[in-house]
Amino acid sequence: MNTVLDIQHLSVAYNRKGLALEDVSLQVPQGGIVALLGANGAGKSTLIRAVTGLLDLYHGKITDGRVHMSGKIVSGMPAHRLVRMGMGQVPEGRLVFKHLSVEDNLLVGAAVLPRAQVKAGLQAVYQLFPRLLERRNQAAGWMSGGEQQMLALGRAMIAKPKLLLVDELSLGLAPLIVIEIYKQLRVIGETMGTAMLIVEQNAHLALSFAHSAYLLQQGRVVLSGTAQEVSASPEMKASYLGEAKAGKSAA
Ligand SMILES: Nc1ncnc2c1ncn2[C@@H]1O[C@H](COP(=O)(O)OP(=O)(O)OP(=O)(O)O)[C@@H](O)[C@H]1O
Ligand SMILES: [Mg+2]
Repeated sequence: MNTVLDIQHLSVAYNRKGLALEDVSLQVPQGGIVALLGANGAGKSTLIRAVTGLLDLYHGKITDGRVHMSGKIVSGMPAHRLVRMGMGQVPEGRLVFKHLSVEDNLLVGAAVLPRAQVKAGLQAVYQLFPRLLERRNQAAGWMSGGEQQMLALGRAMIAKPKLLLVDELSLGLAPLIVIEIYKQLRVIGETMGTAMLIVEQNAHLALSFAHSAYLLQQGRVVLSGTAQEVSASPEMKASYLGEAKAGKSAA
């Protein structure tokens, strides 16, 4: 299968502190949904920032390793160039334009498309997320968190990316809407071949939809494999799910 995202031995540092990522290698095949799991501070957002060209904003730096997209080295390229090369991005906090209408938000994402393809792009997004069609003239800020996440995904998908990166997909959302979103992501992967790397807080949910998963701990990959393998592994149960439970009961 074609590898769309290929990260090789990536290390990242912020300022002069120790490494936030150390020797991370990770692959996402065409049409594959890969979940990136790990406790708070494990380095998930750092990895997404490194791939999407946003590390500079956070005063972070790649100190070693490389990122390839479809065989080309893309590490060090600015975010806008990566978007033009086919990298769709849904950053932390979703960042929809709250005062713009739903459709205008989608049109921002369509800016990289040739004019003649914009209408078809809107239709494709509305087909994936019919709720956005119902609310197309409404201000984005008035929508629920789940609908805003659909909008952020739609805005990235309208440009037909070959790779989609999503940070904190389910944060703050009700499980039912997250399931609805994951089902649509599977449709996207199967019909458009889009490769996806998804940071997910809810490990159980992610492992029921993703094809494979990587577990980060203190900036290193400590476990990777098919979703089934990762679910069944004792490390996963002990480390991640154990910590998640402990966190919940402590809160
Ligand atoms: N801008 C920054 N400057 C300095 N250190 C940072 C910065 N951003 C993150 N870090 C540090 O890098 C490490 C990884 O953080 P990161 O945000 O990537 O974790 P995460 O897995 O996304 O966590 P969370 O689940 O809480 O979002 C942490 O130790 C964090 O304190
Ligand atoms: Mg994060």
